[in-house]
Amino acid sequence: MTSNAIIVCPSSDLVDGGLACKLPVQHKSGTTTAFFVRYQGQVRGYLNRCPHMGSELDWENQVFTRAGDQLMCARHGATFEPATGECTGGPCQPSRLTALTVTEAEHDGIPVVLWWPQD
Ligand code: FES
Repeated sequence: MTSNAIIVCPSSDLVDGGLACKLPVQHKSGTTTAFFVRYQGQVRGYLNRCPHMGSELDWENQVFTRAGDQLMCARHGATFEPATGECTGGPCQPSRLTALTVTEAEHDGIPVVLWWPQD
């Protein structure tokens, strides 16, 4: 069931509006990271590249605003809808984050976050 998936972290590591888990990613533009968060109970994953200037969004794995209802780029403050990655404010409208396919499943008896890389 998990043969094509990459285990990101235990599900319990991601709490609503909390810190992100990150993994290194090879992208067409070079090496970067992906980040994974939980929002309204659902896990979400995005390529960690801001559409504005390509910077990583997080600051030490913090990607949520203080209110926990938006993702925010630490560089110039662009904000994004956590459920879709759509830019909701700042210098990169209109644009969106690159969404990744993520699920949760049990692995060796432990609930884990899985990332299903496409390309
Ligand atoms: S690089 Fe993210 S808002 Fe400028």
